[in-house]
Amino acid sequence: MSEAPHLVGVEPDDRTAFPSDLLSDFPSDPLSHSRSAHADPRAETDRRLAELRDARVVVTGGGGLVGSRLTALLCRAGAAVTVLDRMDAYPEAAHTLFGVDRLGADLVVDDVCERDVVRRLLGGADYVVHLAACADVAACTRRPGEAFRSNLQGTQVVLEETAASRVRRLVFASSAAVYGDGRPGAEGPQEFHEDQPLRPLSVYANSKLWAEHQTRLLLGGPGGPEHAVLRYFSVYGAPQVPKPGSHSWMVAWLSMQARLGRPMRLNGGGVQVRDLVHVDDVAAATALALVEERMAGRTVNVGTGTPTSVREVAGLVAAHFPEARCITGDRPEGDPLGGYAATDRSRELLRWTPRIGVREGVTQYVRWLAATPRALPSWLAESAA
Ligand SMILES: NC(=O)c1ccc[n+]([C@@H]2O[C@H](COP(=O)([O-])OP(=O)(O)OC[C@H]3O[C@@H](n4cnc5c(N)ncnc54)[C@H](O)[C@@H]3O)[C@@H](O)[C@H]2O)c1
Repeated sequence: MSEAPHLVGVEPDDRTAFPSDLLSDFPSDPLSHSRSAHADPRAETDRRLAELRDARVVVTGGGGLVGSRLTALLCRAGAAVTVLDRMDAYPEAAHTLFGVDRLGADLVVDDVCERDVVRRLLGGADYVVHLAACADVAACTRRPGEAFRSNLQGTQVVLEETAASRVRRLVFASSAAVYGDGRPGAEGPQEFHEDQPLRPLSVYANSKLWAEHQTRLLLGGPGGPEHAVLRYFSVYGAPQVPKPGSHSWMVAWLSMQARLGRPMRLNGGGVQVRDLVHVDDVAAATALALVEERMAGRTVNVGTGTPTSVREVAGLVAAHFPEARCITGDRPEGDPLGGYAATDRSRELLRWTPRIGVREGVTQYVRWLAATPRALPSWLAESAA
């Protein structure tokens, strides 16, 4: 393993406790692109989430990146959270790093395809957030059978058992991948609106689109549990770590390559754009979707409305590593050119705006990585550059 390059002003310190040290710290910054009208948006979010005090919330996939941050927020709001997760999405200690077992939630290590387990958990639940999925585009392409099992069959079990329960509302985590490359022939980065035609380009995107439709079809009736669908754009931020063979999650990938003193690989030259939305903002949006009345039966983008190219992200990372350089690789199959979120619905229906801008978010991530050396997976450190 090559020696980590020096990062100005930050010394590695493995004692850093995460995520509990960040739970009470949702910083604001002049570089943030937040457009919230509230003086203290975090206090406003807490006020709205007070409705969840003592509510029983099941979070499938709660042991993963988004799920662990969401679980932290829900526990802070006083909800009784049960996490259902297979805890095997990462080859090493990433689930330990995410720390869902240290948040006060009940952790059930099992599969969403296990109907009896899902039935037992949902039997006592008021709300469900369904995050469990094979959440990696490249892994779904390599193993479509696994994508089918977790993303379709597992979702079917969760939806059927929700429909048969007294759950008030289920929130389903979909993805901006359902937009594919957007409108054919359009020039430049595109704004993706919830109502435009959907053109999934990958097995992953197709599985999410199917699950969106199925959520509406199975939970759309009167008198039963409500539903809301969120289309997350590109989620990033500590404690995200990459998965082997994945080309998603560029902030983590590029930061780790730079940290290892390796060139930052820009697939397809890094011209793809992404709407990078911080995981803490995504957690807040997801929790609010449980309680916001206007979200019943609605589908809403969770993004910032700001396009950032992969090349620009590399530039933001490089600002922290004076010796960093880039190389170009091939653009992977199923990797969309990308776009950014239309945000009018998330503002009007969800009454949510993101708070952490990409410059601030990348800086936070690079600093967290420097302070948390164990976040660097050994499979990555030991692999060829
Ligand atoms: N991270 C992103 O950029 C992004 C973007 C759009 C949508 N999403 C969606 O958001 C959700 C959360 O993503 P994430 O980034 O936290 O991914 P993640 O891989 O960190 O978390 C997903 C969790 O689901 C669990 N899981 C997978 N299959 C399971 C099964 N059959 N039974 C039980 N648990 C299972 C995994 O163990 C993992 O902990 C996923 O549905 C993902 O598709 C993520």
